[in-house]
Amino acid sequence: MYTIEELQKIISDEIKTRSTELLKQQPVELYDPISYSLDMGGKRLRPVLVLLACNMFSDDIQKAIPAAVGIEVFHNFTLLHDDIMDKADVRRNRPTVHKKFSENAAILSGDAMAFQSYRYFLENKSDTLPEVLEVFSQTAIEVCEGQQYDMDFEQRLDVSEQEYLEMIRLKTAVLLACSLKVGALLGGASEKIARQLYSFGINLGLAFQLQDDLLDTFGNQAVFGKQIGGDILANKKTFLLINALDKANDAQRPELLGWIEKDTFNPKEKIEAVTALYRQTGIRKITEDKVNDFFNTAIRILAEMELQDVVKQPLRDLAAQMLKRRQ
Ligand code: IPE
Ligand code: IPE
Ligand code: MG
Ligand code: MG
Ligand code: MG
Repeated sequence: MYTIEELQKIISDEIKTRSTELLKQQPVELYDPISYSLDMGGKRLRPVLVLLACNMFSDDIQKAIPAAVGIEVFHNFTLLHDDIMDKADVRRNRPTVHKKFSENAAILSGDAMAFQSYRYFLENKSDTLPEVLEVFSQTAIEVCEGQQYDMDFEQRLDVSEQEYLEMIRLKTAVLLACSLKVGALLGGASEKIARQLYSFGINLGLAFQLQDDLLDTFGNQAVFGKQIGGDILANKKTFLLINALDKANDAQRPELLGWIEKDTFNPKEKIEAVTALYRQTGIRKITEDKVNDFFNTAIRILAEMELQDVVKQPLRDLAAQMLKRRQ
């Protein structure tokens, strides 16, 4: 079996090649932002999950490479549009596409990436292609649904933890789960195993987005690569904010609500004040515990799968790496 590092190298080389090919096309104004986004790096988590899942059932991972690239291109497309929606200026320690080029460029290059991702999927015409495309299409629509909830929730104060978890299942977890399922189907896994890997991916994805919310407040900007406090400024109804509102005492709650309702404020002051309230209400620990819960559920699902332990090991290792992430 391939190691995680080998798969990361295979996928980053492949994306480099594809990006260079795209950059040869006209108009350059359409392709430049695409290759900028693809060349900026990122953890390449989703394509590695595709290849890793395929490799659990087949020695030939070549057949899964186009789908792996397709999923990473799709992921990057969602980031182009997400950064406009979230008014984010920095990603992977570089200016976001709409800042470096323009909003119109980020919209249109993003659209082209979404279609291009389907083209990559179509390169490998296996018997499972219709099913693979169905999973991918369903996932793509769910990501849009999740992003819409994320936007809607910015305007609401009564978002429940359950609503939040459903929102992040849609905007983030389904794409990680889809990556595993697609890889498994291309590798020849049974329906049952593919389904189990999907639910492993959902739990991993929920933990992953909770960590993203934590890092957005408590992370180190140079390592995380995104602006710290972006979620606070946008009044995102993250797990942190929902639980802080729930745990706050009679003095803390009005202060927190005051910051959410203020139209004009100094951004730095708002981030500092809300972060201080998160600290006072012990939100970090509560969120970390929730991250661990989802990770443990994922690991339990993996343990239940009827596969040899050596076959499961790389996935367990990747999950463990993800649990420690600061980026
Ligand atoms: C960012 O995803 C969007 C979320 C779902 C949190 P990643 O953290 O995987 O971003 P990159 O691709 O590694 O930059
Ligand atoms: C990302 O959620 C979900 C998608 C891009 C679909 P976030 O808005 O939290 O992601 P980051 O923090 O900007 O990467
Ligand atoms: Mg967002
Ligand atoms: Mg965002
Ligand atoms: Mg985020």
